[in-house]
Amino acid sequence: MFGSHHNNQRRKLCAIGGPQNGARTGTFDSTLSRQAYSSSSIRSISSRAYTNGEMCRNPTEVNMSQIVLPCHANYCGELSAGQLLKWMDSTASERHAGRSCITASVDDIHFITTIGVGQVVNIAAKVNRAFTSSMEAGILVSCEDLFSNRQWKVCHAFATFVAQHTEAGKVQLKQVIPRTQAEQMEYSLAAERRRMRLIHAEIINDLLSSCCSQTVSERLDYQDAVPAERTRVESVELVLPPHANHQVSTFGGQIMAWMENVATISASRLCNAHPTLRSIDMFHFRGPSHIGDRLVLKAIVNNAFKKSMEVGVCAEAYQGGEPLRHINTAFMTFEVLDNDRKPCTLPRIRPEPVDGKRRFQEAIAREKIRLDRKYIISCKQSEVPLSVPWDPCNQMYLSYNNVSALKMLAARNNWVLTSEKNKVSLYTLEENQMLCFKVETHVAVAAEQVFLLLSDLRRRKAWDHHYQECDVITDSDEDDTIYRVVTPSVTKRGKVQDFILLASRRRPCDSGDPYLIALRSVTLPAYPPTEDYNRGEVLCAGFSIWEEENTFTKISYYNQATPGVLPYISTDIAGLSSSFYCTFASCSAFLEENKESLASLPTSTL
Ligand code: COA
Repeated sequence: MFGSHHNNQRRKLCAIGGPQNGARTGTFDSTLSRQAYSSSSIRSISSRAYTNGEMCRNPTEVNMSQIVLPCHANYCGELSAGQLLKWMDSTASERHAGRSCITASVDDIHFITTIGVGQVVNIAAKVNRAFTSSMEAGILVSCEDLFSNRQWKVCHAFATFVAQHTEAGKVQLKQVIPRTQAEQMEYSLAAERRRMRLIHAEIINDLLSSCCSQTVSERLDYQDAVPAERTRVESVELVLPPHANHQVSTFGGQIMAWMENVATISASRLCNAHPTLRSIDMFHFRGPSHIGDRLVLKAIVNNAFKKSMEVGVCAEAYQGGEPLRHINTAFMTFEVLDNDRKPCTLPRIRPEPVDGKRRFQEAIAREKIRLDRKYIISCKQSEVPLSVPWDPCNQMYLSYNNVSALKMLAARNNWVLTSEKNKVSLYTLEENQMLCFKVETHVAVAAEQVFLLLSDLRRRKAWDHHYQECDVITDSDEDDTIYRVVTPSVTKRGKVQDFILLASRRRPCDSGDPYLIALRSVTLPAYPPTEDYNRGEVLCAGFSIWEEENTFTKISYYNQATPGVLPYISTDIAGLSSSFYCTFASCSAFLEENKESLASLPTSTL
């Protein structure tokens, strides 16, 4: 975020001081002691499973409880976000690997509430999934009021830790075995989140390069704007043993705390008030830092939106006369709250020439990504509108949403077997006024071949008479394709229906995973609904394909029935027809006929 100009004047503007002393004094619960959770989201981190009637605890789970003392708080008597980040990092690391780990990255964190002095912070962390040398930890922070016995959620974060290489090379971590439905869901979603974080930098770069051609000059002419130079902050910290693990690597949480400290000062300079940290964008620790390093921390306000501002913070390290090493860059969003805790309108910023204008422009692009990510990813599935407008910038998030919705549906364990015929089983799940169904069958065809044959929706006409027409509209990337599908009218004289479907394909992340083909509706400006067709919508549907033996494969088709789809299936569920059995019997026949054929993933024909 900073330009090539490097300011050599290193000032120690601020020290973390008191709070850091409390960083490692937390109480590590050996059992999950707190029962009185007030919300289901808080309850969801709890990972207790019952074996032979006995409660057992997820072995990777670590709990920390801290009472917030004045030395942990900021000027407003609220827990400093930096201190909280240190506690979160230290709670989550090292439990599963049994060896020294470093923080590789932390996904977006949204702070929902602040925590006051005298309140208790409860941090629960557990490993959701181990990959090769890396593992994802889920960290849930809640606040507890000791007087009222109330608890509420403060934030939820996902951090990736990497086990340090040994002399023999890269470490292979032991696998996490999910035992509950919630753990199974997190295990499955962790693979999808990993995929997103590994291409995060690429997505951001693509977006930034496409947006930088737009002009910003009309936004820069405000007379009352605060010059961005005024918000520039630079500070130096010396890494001492309490800031590092026994392998002398600096704790990621400590670096985050130092970064938050300079970012807060920078934000205060824009608004001449005490800002509150609202969110931190996903970031990656690019290189290690060790005891004896000096960390140079630099922050500047990149852009001020109406009610929030983005501060860019950069951490670089050096020892002696060595050149600076880039450790991390993070983008933090701050607000200023009035007496009613409502965000105030902020002054505008006048960026510095060249690099300042670039950062100003890039902050606008990141604000768009932030909204997309929050809206599409963090939203509960039931709150996401049926058809989300697709554009190249949000394609990754829609694809994530598509696959994660299917994974969540597949992980449910309360499916009820409704009927069975010709080796095809129909299951239903009724919940919250939503009807979902699952059709399951087995075929003697290799899973990979089933995946390839079912991935190309244009071939579905061969076995599913509901698919009258199917065309590829666009191949957004090698894993995602958008189709237009035409299906017959539900009633005799009704209009035919069309659907704009995003199909997202995933190969297994490791041997225990299925192949997936997830389907959901999206909207495309070039394909609006037309007079001649009823536009149907699919919220969540798709296939999960499990290799059971060498060439024996289990296929599960899922559908969260929306009004457009319900009439096709309700007669089957009620036992009035058996069209789904016929369709899936014909699917099996199609797969077996084509088991040796050369199948490939679809490519655009339009
Ligand atoms: N987010 C999450 N995981 C990431 C990642 C990211 N942005 N980048 C890499 N990884 C994972 C890889 O997926 C891989 O996991 P796997 O072994 O389970 O497949 C693991 O990190 C190692 O990847 P590898 O390709 O061998 O190394 P790399 O050159 O990409 O380096 C780090 C990755 C994290 C080791 C490296 O960037 C680093 O050392 N960063 C500094 C970490 C640190 O010191 N943190 C403490 C604060 S300074």
